[in-house]
Amino acid sequence: MTEAHWWQDAAVYQVYVRSFADSDGDGVGDLPGITARLPYLADLGVDAVWVTPFYRSPMADHGYDVADQCDVDPMFGTLADADRLVTAAHALGLRVIVDLVPNHSSDEHPWFQEALRDPSSRLRERYLFRKPGPDGGPPNNWESVFGGPAWSRDEASGEYYLHLFDRKQPDFDWRHPAVHEEWERILRFWLDRGVDGFRIDVAHGLYKQAALTDHPPSLESQDALFHASAAPHAWDQPEVVDVYRRWRQITDGYTDRVMVGEVFLSQLERVARFVGPDRLHQSFNFPLLAAPLDAQTWRRLITASLAAFEVDGAAPTWVLSNHDVIRHATRYGGGEQGRARARAATLTLLGLPGSPYLYQGEELGLEQDDVPGPARQDPIWLRSGGTVPGRDGARTPMPWTAQAPGHGFSSGTPWLPFGGQAAERSVAAQEGDPGSTLAFYRRALAQRRALRGGLDRTVTWLDGPPDVLAYARRHADGDALVCVLNTGEATTTFALPGATLLVSSDPAATASADALTLPAGTAMWVRAQV
Ligand code: GLC
Repeated sequence: MTEAHWWQDAAVYQVYVRSFADSDGDGVGDLPGITARLPYLADLGVDAVWVTPFYRSPMADHGYDVADQCDVDPMFGTLADADRLVTAAHALGLRVIVDLVPNHSSDEHPWFQEALRDPSSRLRERYLFRKPGPDGGPPNNWESVFGGPAWSRDEASGEYYLHLFDRKQPDFDWRHPAVHEEWERILRFWLDRGVDGFRIDVAHGLYKQAALTDHPPSLESQDALFHASAAPHAWDQPEVVDVYRRWRQITDGYTDRVMVGEVFLSQLERVARFVGPDRLHQSFNFPLLAAPLDAQTWRRLITASLAAFEVDGAAPTWVLSNHDVIRHATRYGGGEQGRARARAATLTLLGLPGSPYLYQGEELGLEQDDVPGPARQDPIWLRSGGTVPGRDGARTPMPWTAQAPGHGFSSGTPWLPFGGQAAERSVAAQEGDPGSTLAFYRRALAQRRALRGGLDRTVTWLDGPPDVLAYARRHADGDALVCVLNTGEATTTFALPGATLLVSSDPAATASADALTLPAGTAMWVRAQV
């Protein structure tokens, strides 16, 4: 790379707006709540905050159903609150990434409202309305990611409209030029307000196969995480990358802005098509979300990710949790052991070149909550008639204090209940405890900041026992940062003379004069000559 950009190495913290901090007691987090908690994020040591959608929305998908992309929903605040958030973040040295949802709008978007009101309206062409299939049912066999058919009937005209998500999220027709123009306007609107970048929702969507033909029946069953392979005509069409070529020209007209795509495809070579100097800066790198914490698997996936994304004009990303998936402490077994393994996994990713995206609450070691059925709100739960649990368990509010009922999140009744871990894992309970997960995150992020300026971006794998993942990155001062992870079930040693401990995921991981000792499910960073 010729020039260093902040986003090539930024640690980004994802705020799920509804559940971070509620300033007005309605039980739902909001923008002033985030602004008030920015010092916590600055202390944590992250570089940027990604804020999930806060635009006007009927909240059928909790904000991912947008009725006006250029206004703030009153539930979350005002445009002035958004400006204040950006200004306050910048004053603390934090960048702000906002979430754009270009695949679909809300059915309450003025375009769609007009399209429904008047079946002869030209605005209908900006969505995907089609006549019924030969049997009078939906025009094709596509399924919604949230379950059930991807088509709903507009009773007035008898036509169906496409929605790859909820029926209240009609898909735009990206073959219509007005859709492009509108999104370029939206991009500039937020860039002009000073945001540092965009997270692009369902970035592999947008275009659908022009003829909207049936998916091959053999592929009908949907894989919840990587639906694209089961629905080849609905996702990752050749034209979609051209949208990002244009958007990159726009963002390149501003100083140092970033676009990260939510490209939910399982094959990295297909995801890689979305990034580069003339397209997106980053794409989320999801295979690790679906992989066990196993040294050999991780080595393979990290190697492939570096090859795909550590390219000119782009940078890799590393993700273990977000608002759509089961929190990684739970995926790795839950309890003390799951949390320990989650810390080890995080430390391993924090040492790699590129941007780790951290999800709110993982720095507290939060696990997936088992939200009681009647309290669940995810459209996946609702559309499946209460058979698929959905994502609410990853979205319960941040416990800031040990005090029930509001835990410093809200003075009202939280929109989703706190889980049983809230008091014990609250920020207040961990504050000042050097053995806490929170203290570990602060140490790791501080070390990362201190080192990264001097670190070479090349990752060199070091050989060790099969359960050990070890890599080195040379530092300008002559030493190297060495990261070692033990994914096995037993304590292991790793020969490395003269190593100095920098940070470990567990106090029981230690460095002696000639070797590192790593209990099961731990990782450490040391300085050494390699
Ligand atoms: C993305 C979001 C998810 C949302 C969906 C539809 O996958 O991360 O939360 O439900 O898009 O917008």
